[in-house]
Amino acid sequence: MKYSIITLFPNLINSYVNESIIKRAIQKERIEIEIIDLRDHTNYSHNQVDDYQFGGGKGMVLMVEPVVNAIENCWTNESLIVLTSPQGKTWNQNLAKKLSKEYKHIIIICGHYEGFDERILDYVDMELSIGDYVLTGGELASLVFIDSITRLIDGVIQSESHQNDSFENNLLDHPVYTKPVNFRNKSVPEVLLSGHHANIKKFRQEGRIINTFNKRPDLLKENKLCKEDLEILNKLKNRKEE
Ligand code: ADE
Repeated sequence: MKYSIITLFPNLINSYVNESIIKRAIQKERIEIEIIDLRDHTNYSHNQVDDYQFGGGKGMVLMVEPVVNAIENCWTNESLIVLTSPQGKTWNQNLAKKLSKEYKHIIIICGHYEGFDERILDYVDMELSIGDYVLTGGELASLVFIDSITRLIDGVIQSESHQNDSFENNLLDHPVYTKPVNFRNKSVPEVLLSGHHANIKKFRQEGRIINTFNKRPDLLKENKLCKEDLEILNKLKNRKEE
């Protein structure tokens, strides 16, 4: 996967992608990250990339020409062009999966300041948001997209690590424990120390359902649970009603 990030703040992107799992994915050549400084693509003097909006109003608006120049500089017929924006479709695990599978090159334009010239949308395939709140710019959002897509790419992390991720099958992940076995009188559930794989598997599936029921019951509405899982869920519901 190649990502081309069009940004006014290349250092912000650079510092994040040069650490940890993303750095390793680059070193292992599973991904490539091209950071494009929008100011290198303006024809205006003083590297201008934004201006006041027509009709009046506060704040500077990203101009269409530098953005289109930057896109045209990195676009190929395999590219998906994404614009970060609070008005976009809300990002989730299914979208991360879809993009990791279906695309080889993702261009991400980081929106900034008070907004962008509406005509930029004519050059964009997808407007994406990371949630219903407004950031000062799209850099954090672009890193969220890169991070969540990259960990799903083969060879980046062990595939078992994301097969049972939260949101997989619309369930949250089960609780996990590590050393020490006992901490201030609270012990790791015994079944996890038993070495009994079938019981551990069952305990973990119950943990997924309990976690989802307690923390994100909205996810269960969209879920097609198997018979065993439904039984666990019904027990939980009955317990709550008692
Ligand atoms: N830019 C500003 N706010 C944003 C958001 N919530 N998601 C993506 N890009 C943004």
